[in-house]
Amino acid sequence: MNEWYEKIKEAQSVEVLEEIRISVFGKKGVLAAEFAKMKTASNEDKAQIAKDLNKHKQALTNEFTAKKIALQTQELKDAMLAEAIDVSLFSTESQAGALHPVMETMDRIVEYFSSMNFAVKTGTMVEDDFNNFEALNLPKYHPARDMQDTFYFKDELLLRTHTSPVQIRTMMSTKPPIRMIAPGAVFRRDYDLTHTPMFHQVEGLLVDEEGKVSFANLKYILEDFLKFMFGDVNVRFRPSFFPFTEPSAEVDISCVFCKGDGCRVCSQTGWLEVLGCGIVDQNVFEAVEYKNVSGYAFGLGVERFAMLIHQIGDLRSLFEGDIKLLEQFQ
Ligand code: DAH
Repeated sequence: MNEWYEKIKEAQSVEVLEEIRISVFGKKGVLAAEFAKMKTASNEDKAQIAKDLNKHKQALTNEFTAKKIALQTQELKDAMLAEAIDVSLFSTESQAGALHPVMETMDRIVEYFSSMNFAVKTGTMVEDDFNNFEALNLPKYHPARDMQDTFYFKDELLLRTHTSPVQIRTMMSTKPPIRMIAPGAVFRRDYDLTHTPMFHQVEGLLVDEEGKVSFANLKYILEDFLKFMFGDVNVRFRPSFFPFTEPSAEVDISCVFCKGDGCRVCSQTGWLEVLGCGIVDQNVFEAVEYKNVSGYAFGLGVERFAMLIHQIGDLRSLFEGDIKLLEQFQ
């Protein structure tokens, strides 16, 4: 037994120590073997053997633990020394920072709508049920709430699932007319190739006197905006449903990968969906007590825009902070 104390003391690395641990404490280790011998010992001897062995077991465990900590500390120190950087050294290499592709895309979206006189609003990430759902014509138990897997807190608080609540906040605190966009982070319980629990949206809202805002206005500005973002693409509007707009549409651009011929990314359709929009539902105006107004609204996902602009395949790569990926966007 005694030799093992020496061996533990002399171990030079965590790996060697681990081998010793297996030899001593493992199923086929020396301790197990010694304990097994008890079976054949006489009853008087058994108690003494057990006592001795348990003493060794405890003592060896203590040695082992102390040595492991010492070795780990040393290995960490060595690693830090080996990787140390002398910050006082002169370097000819200089690396300029750059915006993350998502932020750069967001900036470009904001740039467009600012130039069109839309104010930028932010709201809050922790929202209440009224702003995130109720006022947007999504009453409790409305099936459309299932479209948005929500993170809930106590007391009707939640992480906003879209930037649409900023519409409500803005209308509650200002009088019409309104021209605003709301860029920001939103949260949903989703994680796969095309979904992350946090992502970014830009919401848009325009409100003016009754009869002044038409679908044609909405169509014009979104077409112009999408050409600003993606260059010379075709744009089409497809009827759709959103609780807060009626009528509603989803907007597609011709596929930026195959130019509309059909490929894997656009599922051979030649089109990519990029936006949701519509004419603001009267129920929304009622919730914020706006009278005799008309308006349009739209919402888009910034990561999706960034992926299409930079031809990035996996959404998650935008969140991994991989310097090799990010360097490509300098
Ligand atoms: N809030 C929607 C979502 O998160 C996006 C959206 C669609 C916003 C249509 C709008 C709209 O304002 O009119 O999926």
